[in-house]
Amino acid sequence: MKFRNLVELAEDITLAKILKRKIPLRVTHNITYRCNLNCSFCLLKERLNKPNNFEMNTLQIKNMMKEFKEMGTRFWLFSGGEPLLREDIGELIGYAKNKMNFHCSLSTNGLLLAERIKDDPSFKQLDLIQISLDGPKEIQDRLRGEGSYDKIISALDILRELQIKVVIMTLLSKHNLSHLHSLIKLTAQYKTNIIFQVIGTQPAYPAKSKEKFFPSRNVFKQAVQELINEKERNSFIINSLDYLKMVRDFWPDAPHKIKCYAGRFYCEITPEGFVVPCCAKLDRIKDICNGLDAGFQKAFFQLDDMVECRDCYYAGAQESNIILGMIPWGIITLYRSYSRLKQLLK
Ligand SMILES: C[S@@+](CC[C@H](N)C(=O)[O-])C[C@H]1O[C@@H](n2cnc3c(N)ncnc32)[C@H](O)[C@@H]1O
Ligand code: SF4
Repeated sequence: MKFRNLVELAEDITLAKILKRKIPLRVTHNITYRCNLNCSFCLLKERLNKPNNFEMNTLQIKNMMKEFKEMGTRFWLFSGGEPLLREDIGELIGYAKNKMNFHCSLSTNGLLLAERIKDDPSFKQLDLIQISLDGPKEIQDRLRGEGSYDKIISALDILRELQIKVVIMTLLSKHNLSHLHSLIKLTAQYKTNIIFQVIGTQPAYPAKSKEKFFPSRNVFKQAVQELINEKERNSFIINSLDYLKMVRDFWPDAPHKIKCYAGRFYCEITPEGFVVPCCAKLDRIKDICNGLDAGFQKAFFQLDDMVECRDCYYAGAQESNIILGMIPWGIITLYRSYSRLKQLLK
């Protein structure tokens, strides 16, 4: 993103904060609940691959994007389920980039990436692809399914050739905490970045899965401290130090101290067209309206303010909250560094 666009974005946020306005700057669209994997830790497990699941069609999605564009959206993330199972994903990426001018990214398990990307030039337009990779071959295949590691490596090779920006997304669990260095090494080898995410802790997450995936507090704390040390040495880890320190000190039970901007500056859309503040609030669907029925503007503007919510530690939400919390201080810093740079270049 260009420096000018960043400053404009910071200005929009500052004004919205002063005027107490909502703007859906970033939208995560869970385009389908179909998935070609069945990860036992998945936060959407209960919703995936149900025969009666409804998905918006191509035209409905394009119209929804237009409504969000009018509200000021700048960032669009296609996620799921597995978004590459949608036949029209290439067309929708093209629309998001060429017609809406969104910064557009895709979150995928990577299994279909190598074959889809070869046939469809739209993927080259993506600003970022997030690929989930949870460990070296043995761990990844055990957690996600036989053969998934090799498919991701093939995809990484192709993405490197095509020079598409990639970030590896790793879910921290008791199964991979002693393998994080090999993932960082792989990231360095592919000259890409890695972001670490903790498992969701919202009440709906089954206790059985907690037992199966949550590490002990001490082991977790030590592993995150090592990531903090590593982050201070290299730039491959893109989590902020604030996020890493927050999960080190508070995850999973103690309420953290980050103010939440979900439903105010970002939101999620379900495959059926419900607008929710974030993925930790999917159980609220019964209380909110569907954008296809009510219009997406109405559905977004009637979301509750989540400012006091401390229910989640998701990297996507909390990293956004951390940046949003720094503005307008961030904008002052940006202007200062810009003026300083101009002086230095005179
Ligand atoms: C729901 S998936 C959808 C995209 C794609 N199917 C994938 O797995 O990358 C998006 C991200 O959520 C992460 N995820 C899945 N279950 C989670 C959980 N219980 N807590 C936190 N993140 C989770 C996945 O690892 C993935 O990086
Ligand atoms: S691939 Fe993604 S959506 Fe599918 S089950 Fe695994 S985490 Fe869930």
